[in-house]
Amino acid sequence: MELRLKEVHASLRARLAVAGEPLCAYIYDLEALRRHATSLMATLPPGFELFYAVKANSELPILQTLAPLVDGFEISSGGELDWVRQHFSAIPLAFSGPGKLDSELAAALSANVETLHVESLHELQRLKAIAAVQGKTTDVLLRVNLPLEGITETTLMMGGKPTPFGIPMDQLPECLTWLRRHPRLRLRGFHFHLMSHQLDAAAHLRLLAAMLARVKSWREEYGLDIAQINVGGGIGIHYRAPDKQFDWGHFSGGLAKLKHDSGLPGVIVRFELGRYLTAACGYYAMQVIDIKPSYGKTFVIGRGGTHHFRTPYAQGHSHPFHVLPVAHWPYAWPRPEAVGKPVSVVGQLCTPKDLLAFDAPVERVRCGDVLVFPYAGAYAWHISHHDFLRHPHPAQWYLPVETHAHAAIEPA
Ligand SMILES: Cc1ncc(COP(=O)(O)O)c(C=O)c1O
Repeated sequence: MELRLKEVHASLRARLAVAGEPLCAYIYDLEALRRHATSLMATLPPGFELFYAVKANSELPILQTLAPLVDGFEISSGGELDWVRQHFSAIPLAFSGPGKLDSELAAALSANVETLHVESLHELQRLKAIAAVQGKTTDVLLRVNLPLEGITETTLMMGGKPTPFGIPMDQLPECLTWLRRHPRLRLRGFHFHLMSHQLDAAAHLRLLAAMLARVKSWREEYGLDIAQINVGGGIGIHYRAPDKQFDWGHFSGGLAKLKHDSGLPGVIVRFELGRYLTAACGYYAMQVIDIKPSYGKTFVIGRGGTHHFRTPYAQGHSHPFHVLPVAHWPYAWPRPEAVGKPVSVVGQLCTPKDLLAFDAPVERVRCGDVLVFPYAGAYAWHISHHDFLRHPHPAQWYLPVETHAHAAIEPA
């Protein structure tokens, strides 16, 4: 996961040179994204697949960069299905998510979604009725909410406790019995997405081992023919300590043994990663409009705010940033600045919740400098309430894939 700050800063300086007023922008580094996805794919042993969970960032250039590299996309709504199929007619799709409409299930069948992840008996029944109308059979995975002994919890849990996601264990036998009587839906395996923000590679390997062990026991107990286990996404970004990221080398190095020990040799294990694929390719930049001491604290007010970049507030962290100094100062009076003290970075919204960083030490920041927030490529623009206060949307641009580098790794 490489941050190409030199290239990002050069592109920002080029925009600043022509900007008429303080700038705020998303910059996506497609070359960094290509390198990251390529290296993840290269470290997956045989029998593992990597899908991209498009909810993390569904901008078209992001999807176009990833589509040739990953094994498929995971979608979670009819809107994502339409968007993806409009631009990628053949890429394999997995469709997850709670509360799917009948119309979304019908569209998924029409669009040849490869696997539907079903979340309840009622959803199974609706899907079967729709498949009958379309005269189709379809592959399904059951999404199970799996309580596991000794699971290392993260700050965002989707399973292992009462949640709206997946089928609780006590309802699984009924679903399996029902599926046996309705061959129009072919059970191909199980889906688990129990958490996001996993930062511990060893704990994630243990979690996967426990999932595989459970599937093996169900296979034997119910006589199932299992082709695939989707172990979800969930690998996190260490926003609080960016130099201590998830140890992918340790994790991927343990996958072959994990599979071997599972006793499920022919079964495909699929990941559907969102954050870990795209977070590092995105940057949110805000130019400083004002700096204000207030009763012992210092507030740095940037152009933009959480209506563009809600990630820090949504996750409750102070987002890391650095200062890109800008020499130009258009006013006749001294430049407000904060030197050698902790600051709070806020945006332009009329709410104290518009907070992007707090207690953040800075050497020096001046009005007119640019604050650059890395790791803003996932669940950032796409989870933000863009039209609150009707500020304009930020600028957005892409550092392109370096085609000569790309050509070098393509087979001849
Ligand atoms: C079903 C499902 N799969 C995959 C993901 C991607 O998770 P992450 O971005 O943590 O990898 C999500 C995110 O919420 C999800 O709900």
